[in-house]
Amino acid sequence: MAKITVIGSLIMDNVATMERYPEAGESIMGTSINYYPGGKGANQCVAIARLGGDCEMIGMVGNDENGKIFKNLLKEENIKSDNVFVCDKPTGIAQIQINNEGQNRICFIPSSNFEFNFNHIDLIDKIIKETSLVVLQLELRLEIVEEIIKRAHKYGVKILLNPAPAMNIDKEVLKYVDYITPNEFELSSLTNLPVETEPQIIKASQKLLSYGCKNVIATLGSKGAIIANNKITKLIPSYKVKAIDTVGAGDSFNGALAVSIIEGKELEEAVKFANAMGALTVQKSGAIPSLHTRKEVEDFLNGIIN
Ligand code: RIB
Repeated sequence: MAKITVIGSLIMDNVATMERYPEAGESIMGTSINYYPGGKGANQCVAIARLGGDCEMIGMVGNDENGKIFKNLLKEENIKSDNVFVCDKPTGIAQIQINNEGQNRICFIPSSNFEFNFNHIDLIDKIIKETSLVVLQLELRLEIVEEIIKRAHKYGVKILLNPAPAMNIDKEVLKYVDYITPNEFELSSLTNLPVETEPQIIKASQKLLSYGCKNVIATLGSKGAIIANNKITKLIPSYKVKAIDTVGAGDSFNGALAVSIIEGKELEEAVKFANAMGALTVQKSGAIPSLHTRKEVEDFLNGIIN
């Protein structure tokens, strides 16, 4: 049984780059269009594999070309994927706009990802029971993610939840989450609190702790991440790099965090490693194509490359 099990989305990204985003009702000329495999689940799983983590991907693709691309990709990355199911709906698609600062806007159509249902959870119940860490996002149906969290908790399996995109997840379920990694927007949505300043982010993180989550890791893009648990509240700054495409940076951060947790690193060390993975990801285009290997992250941290 793989130590880390990612249960989540597989989505084909249509990525258009442009000088600036168009206004409502405006047409502008873009600079490029590319198709990259993505989806928060797949991105996080490939990140884990490239960092040397022992991982399995579970999700749902369509019986189409994009579905085949994902199946081949997971094979090439040596990721166990027997439980990436296939359905009659098309594989999920995202439209992504990237401006000249590397920022992104994403609209995703779940399609196949929303065909993953309670029967599939029953089929993978044994895997949930026997893995060490379940990694989840919110691009499957919310009630499916909530049920997986309940089962993992029942079996004493650790849970890392990347609560993206922002959803109104049941607070009764949040109390079972060991590691939660909201960005500022998701943190505000989960707590109904403002998150414009560092003290506000700390207050919102503490509110999440009060729901019962064990560790909050609030990701703040180029600023780094604030960690909060019952022992420590601290900003772990990121590394200064020039971002050309931020798509997948949060996912690479989550993947690196998962690997570090399984390796037994202290949270602060784990987040420093995850920050490095994120900093490398934003310097390349595409989600999965921009995910770096263990050696690349270690070289970066050792100052060999930068
Ligand atoms: O986090 C980035 C991912 O979110 C993209 O790959 C896209 O598929 C969206 O789901």
